[in-house]
Amino acid sequence: MKNISWHLDESRSFGTVPEDIYGGFVEHLGRNVYGGVWEPGSPAADEEGFRKDVRMLVRELGMPVTRYPGGCFTDLYRWEDGVGPERRAKLDPAWHQLEPNTFGLHEFIRWAEKAGTRPLITVNTANRSVLDTQALYEYCNFPRGTFQSDRRRANGAEKPFGIRDWCLGNELYGSWEIGQMDAAEYGRTVREHAKLLKQLDPDCRLIACGQPDNQDWNRTVLELAGGFIDMLSLHTLFNHGENADEQDYLKSVDVFETQIIETEKLLHEFELKSGRRVGISADEWIIWNLERGMKPEEEWTCGMHLLEQNYTILDALIAGSLLSCFQRHPGSVKLACIAQSVNVIAPIRTEKDGTSWKQSIFHPFALTSKYGRGLSLEPEETGNESGDLYGSAVLSGTGTELTLFLTNRGSEAIRFSAETDFSGVPAECLTLHHDNHSASNGKDAEVIRPQKLEAEFTEKKLQAVLPPFSWNMIRLKTK
Ligand code: AHR
Repeated sequence: MKNISWHLDESRSFGTVPEDIYGGFVEHLGRNVYGGVWEPGSPAADEEGFRKDVRMLVRELGMPVTRYPGGCFTDLYRWEDGVGPERRAKLDPAWHQLEPNTFGLHEFIRWAEKAGTRPLITVNTANRSVLDTQALYEYCNFPRGTFQSDRRRANGAEKPFGIRDWCLGNELYGSWEIGQMDAAEYGRTVREHAKLLKQLDPDCRLIACGQPDNQDWNRTVLELAGGFIDMLSLHTLFNHGENADEQDYLKSVDVFETQIIETEKLLHEFELKSGRRVGISADEWIIWNLERGMKPEEEWTCGMHLLEQNYTILDALIAGSLLSCFQRHPGSVKLACIAQSVNVIAPIRTEKDGTSWKQSIFHPFALTSKYGRGLSLEPEETGNESGDLYGSAVLSGTGTELTLFLTNRGSEAIRFSAETDFSGVPAECLTLHHDNHSASNGKDAEVIRPQKLEAEFTEKKLQAVLPPFSWNMIRLKTK
């Protein structure tokens, strides 16, 4: 058994955790929208067609913000096709789907209200103009008296949607995007969309496409558009298939952390030069064994079973440690979204019969989002040369609760101890682990779920044994 200890005190901290790191993502992809958040006629649907079970689970995940409508889907999206009484069905080349547009902006905004989340809207900067972005802005946010704002009112929303956060395009560096650009072209394009949105609403927050492993791209985008944007997005994918070794897979979080640190350096240089602070938005973090999972007979239909991946305990460890990683970078990572929320590479799965179930990754997400709000303390660590332990510690805003999130990524148990500044009692101690690393939850069996962890907290010292390959949460009520 390994011995690892931390020292924690309030005077050493990374800063306050931005709540928006617990965001979600609803893309028009597979059964995320149709058959996921929205399924009129389902036994789980409310009077407006939204699934009540999904809404409750999203509330349990505690997602302050949700990205919509894509993803790659955005490149050929026309929001106008999905508003008003006449909806236009069309093909979606990104995912080979039929998009009926029966769910559009109004439905998303209504769903977000009911699910207790805030919209983050991706603007189509790949194939639409600045004029189109102005129309979208007026439709969403201007109170009344312009063609677009009055159109929204006529379509039943008297009150503006009040959207504050916008993503300007999606991964436009990628060969998979229809509308791919090089860095200079993207930088110039995004600058004009951003300039417009800042003139219309100086308080809006704008996110431009960045790349975790290409600082040249990021530098060019900053040089051209840095004066108008608030965050650079970093999308990242964790693929167990590519990392056959279990520990290599788990430590791919460290690779992403290094990319965050590289980006932080660049953003710092930019701040010194321009006086403007640009943050990071990890608005797609994906756990995906790159497999499209498309059944040919379903192609060009709506609500296809796409990317419905079942998650293991190792995937849950990735989710838990990644959220700890964001908590350890609160100065730069201002927002993050799990990609995605329902059915599609997601923590929530739904069934046709109106039932739904939680994947393994649901648990670290829900618990970290619930208790990981406050001051992120910087642990002084000894005995962790192997890097098997990855974690974070958050002191609640009121100072009455200290929560530790601890991932044991090694094959040996860890005898963990923490000396703290605080005295108190353990309030809730949970562990998530499973001996079978291929097992996953399903409709009828939640085999991976939190169980009680034994922990002692006496004379300001915490002690617990963390099982091999486990995610753990220890909540202490401090006095
Ligand atoms: O999350 C699935 C897809 O992955 C998104 O549409 C795209 O942005 C990313 O490449």
